[in-house]
Amino acid sequence: MVDAPLPDPALVVLVGPSGAGKSTWAAARFRAQEIVASDDLRAVVGSGPSDLGASADAFELLDRIVAARTGRGLTTVVDTLGMEPERRRRHLGLARARGLPAVAVVFETPLALVRHRNRIRDRPVPAGVLAGQVRRLVDAAAQLRSEGWDQVRVVAPESAASPPPRPRSAPSSRSHDFGVILQVSRFPWGEEPLAWLTDIARATDEAGLQGIALMDHLIQIPQAGRAWEPLPELWVTLGVLAGLGTRLRLGPLVSPVTFRPAGITAKAAATLDAITGGGTFLGIGAGWWAREHAAYGLPFPSPKERLDGLESAIETIRALWAAGTKPYAGQRVSLPETTGYPRPAGAVPIVVGGTGARSLRVAARLGDGCNVPSDDATLERAIPLLRAECDAIGRPHEDVAVTVLDVPVVGRDRDDAWARVERLRGRAPAGTFAARHHAGPVSDHRDRYARLFERGVSSVFLALPDLSTPEDVLALEPLGSS
Ligand code: CTP
Ligand code: MG
Repeated sequence: MVDAPLPDPALVVLVGPSGAGKSTWAAARFRAQEIVASDDLRAVVGSGPSDLGASADAFELLDRIVAARTGRGLTTVVDTLGMEPERRRRHLGLARARGLPAVAVVFETPLALVRHRNRIRDRPVPAGVLAGQVRRLVDAAAQLRSEGWDQVRVVAPESAASPPPRPRSAPSSRSHDFGVILQVSRFPWGEEPLAWLTDIARATDEAGLQGIALMDHLIQIPQAGRAWEPLPELWVTLGVLAGLGTRLRLGPLVSPVTFRPAGITAKAAATLDAITGGGTFLGIGAGWWAREHAAYGLPFPSPKERLDGLESAIETIRALWAAGTKPYAGQRVSLPETTGYPRPAGAVPIVVGGTGARSLRVAARLGDGCNVPSDDATLERAIPLLRAECDAIGRPHEDVAVTVLDVPVVGRDRDDAWARVERLRGRAPAGTFAARHHAGPVSDHRDRYARLFERGVSSVFLALPDLSTPEDVLALEPLGSS
């Protein structure tokens, strides 16, 4: 059986006798700075890790470090014997005060193995002391259950050294229509726009990702960069990508209906689909950013009018994509003819972006999918709402795909992920930023996506907050399908 991943950030308190493998376990899973070890602090304030005379100073420091890190919402691993109930409770209280999940990890390493490891150490713990620790562990394990930890994990001896095996997503979760699409939301192309776009697209293809989605804005949005950074026009840029002859699916995520008349969007998407031989998707939404509308001289009506506009747009687009040229008289839109050539090569899914109740209703009634942020709270709310809207009109749930926008910090390893958090977080506290962006190595994201797919998500649109070079994209290969 594979352990569920540990919460992150979290307070993690290790409990086990000397030689149980606590430090080894922690080092395989956490950055050195995240681990607060009494042995290390004895070596800092005393003559070495076994300088027992330095224990009082070391533990005073340890408590201060735990308070400081948990106070900042940072992952903190307490590597001591963990057998003093008072200290455990203090640390637990600090985590509680900050809303950090608290996990106790108990090392049930058999006495014989602990003794053996102890004997071959530089400075063995006296045999009687060790036996006492093993006895106290039994009491500690019992007390832990009633102390109020969010999780009590038991590490069995055979898994004490190596990290738990990562679940590979089942092959079935990789089949047919779902996968990972790179959403490009920043364009640090220097002096070479075309070369940069080409390299990023080829890397996306090589990494086995399903496609590229482009954000549609007129000014770079504050979430993705600074206003003076380049932000190319959507359909021109998709046209460039279409010309590269990759197998990537292409489309906007999300295009506001306030930017272009719906017929023009229908024409652009049909053209893209025709010249690439299919695979286009169309993400559309009501638009949200007043500033870019004002700057470009575009009307920015009330939310209600924009959402009405979204409904009319979808009707218009579908009418123009449909076979034939006959007049169209729909619920909201009438057109004297629907002559639109080229037709899309295949079925172009319309994905409605937005988390509001009305956006979800529009998706359920008129869309082929909805796109929402990937966080748990949103999914817990949006998926049932979408399904209820489907039920209300008798539409099968599987007709409306759930897709998510995920903005992960992906590092080569935990250290690199953390370095990226420090670069990206701006004024946000590091712990908050790291949690929001699930900062971690790509294997963590693969597991997380496998869970999203299990939950009914069919595609993940992945936007790298620090996308810069093709190597950043190639590093996503474990998320690809090939
Ligand atoms: N070890 C091992 N196999 C494991 C875990 C540990 O061979 N699965 C070895 C380590 O290499 C080390 C010794 O056992 O030489 C003790 O492991 P360590 O992780 O240091 O144990 P701790 O529980 O941290 O011990 P202490 O409380 O003394 O720090
Ligand atoms: Mg240790």
